[in-house]
Amino acid sequence: MIIPPALAATIASADQTPVLRFWDRLDPRGQSRLLAQLEAVRWDELGALRRLALQPPTASVAAPDSTTAVTPPCHLLGNPQNGTAVAEAIVAGQQALTQGRVGAILVAGGQGTRLGCRGPKGLYQVGPLSGATLFEVLLGKLRAVRRRYGKDVPLAIMTSSATDADTKAYLAATDCCGLDPRHLFTFQQQDLPALDAATGNLLLDAPDHVAMAPDGHGGMLTALAASGGLEWFAARGTEHLMSFQVDNPLAMPLHPEFIGCHILAHADISTQVVRKTDPAERVGVVVSIAGRTHVIEYSDLPATVAAERLGDGGLRFHAGSIAVHGFTRAFLERVAARHDALPLHLAHKAVPHLDATGTLIKPKVPNAIKFERFIFDLMPLADTVCVVEIAAEEGFAPLKNPVGSAADAPEHVRAALLRRAHHLLSRAGVSVREGVEVELDPASILDEQDIAAVLPHGSVIDSPQVVRQP
Ligand code: UD1
Repeated sequence: MIIPPALAATIASADQTPVLRFWDRLDPRGQSRLLAQLEAVRWDELGALRRLALQPPTASVAAPDSTTAVTPPCHLLGNPQNGTAVAEAIVAGQQALTQGRVGAILVAGGQGTRLGCRGPKGLYQVGPLSGATLFEVLLGKLRAVRRRYGKDVPLAIMTSSATDADTKAYLAATDCCGLDPRHLFTFQQQDLPALDAATGNLLLDAPDHVAMAPDGHGGMLTALAASGGLEWFAARGTEHLMSFQVDNPLAMPLHPEFIGCHILAHADISTQVVRKTDPAERVGVVVSIAGRTHVIEYSDLPATVAAERLGDGGLRFHAGSIAVHGFTRAFLERVAARHDALPLHLAHKAVPHLDATGTLIKPKVPNAIKFERFIFDLMPLADTVCVVEIAAEEGFAPLKNPVGSAADAPEHVRAALLRRAHHLLSRAGVSVREGVEVELDPASILDEQDIAAVLPHGSVIDSPQVVRQP
């Protein structure tokens, strides 16, 4: 097989001919595989990626300091100090859910590298007693919302080349975790090549394969638009899209008060935050700079700035982003039409690759640049961003690290689910014998109201169980 001359010329003019160094040794299958990949490369973009890879590192947004940045005002979820705003928001959110104007987007394209899991993170079992997977927990919440409000919440799940096939197989095997498949849409984010940090060259991780990686959760914007997802939501009457990450089983993207705040504020984007108390917590912070809202990633926030405290002892930059966002569909449609909506972020990573002799090198230190887009970079483009602070114990228990890690490990996540269950049970007037573990079935128990339907006030639970509605 020969390389089509036009492609060969493009590769040569991009100064990337080393990517073909094993071409003559490949069998026809290998040649077709590599050819298919090279034909899919956006060569016009590659030059820009290479320039970025070779330029000295810079933070995408200047690090905030007390003279330029402030923490924006936050609506405190459920806090009586908000006055009538709580009740009004709840009513507005409930109305939107009852009228079927709310949809959801679950970003599940990440590779789970830190967690060290093989396959999609969504298949990781977090249910403390049930062994329910992250997908079962999160998709279950949509079933519980359907049960309460009588309307399906259309859900789009974003996969990547790393998670697509396994996620689809899992959804097929589990009957979409009980969701109506007519209201479920999957779409795949793009891959971008990893480039050699020293030369800006493409890397081969096999003689017939270029090293690529998913383009970050910000890939959601173009992938959703390109796959017809925005039209899919429009056809279902969805006006507001709540997005959330697969790694947080406590996420409550469909909380009526959150949705209501978003609607009543006429916000293009709304976002949930938790109060950051430890400067070292690995969450981005929401800040306002010159009237525009930004999330500054934890890795871009200098330690001294992260540690700055106010007179009351709290952190100056305390609005920790938990990556639960609400968007109006109209805003997403508007920004999806712009090609420059989301900047690229660079990450130095250790990427296995073949050396000039064809030996596979597994570097211990970063040798390559990966490129990602972050969905929260849409915030500065929004005219109004509504920030809603929630209690971490109610809505944030991210699974990031393997068993035995100091934070965000499976055991912490399971403990957080048990604590949340205990708390809701006690709000419903149900007590639990000391040491007894109780889990709430996410598909039928949203809150204490659903508990009251199965366990009368004053009940006592004395053996481990999963509480569910029939
Ligand atoms: C992320 C946020 C951080 C936030 C924290 C809360 C970024 C860059 N940082 O950090 O501000 O405080 O979550 O938990 O987002 N994903 C994709 N495709 C990709 C990459 C990731 O779908 O190409 C999904 C993952 O499946 C996961 C989520 O995005 O659900 C988060 O990705 P991850 O890289 O783990 O972000 P963090 O560094 O933990």
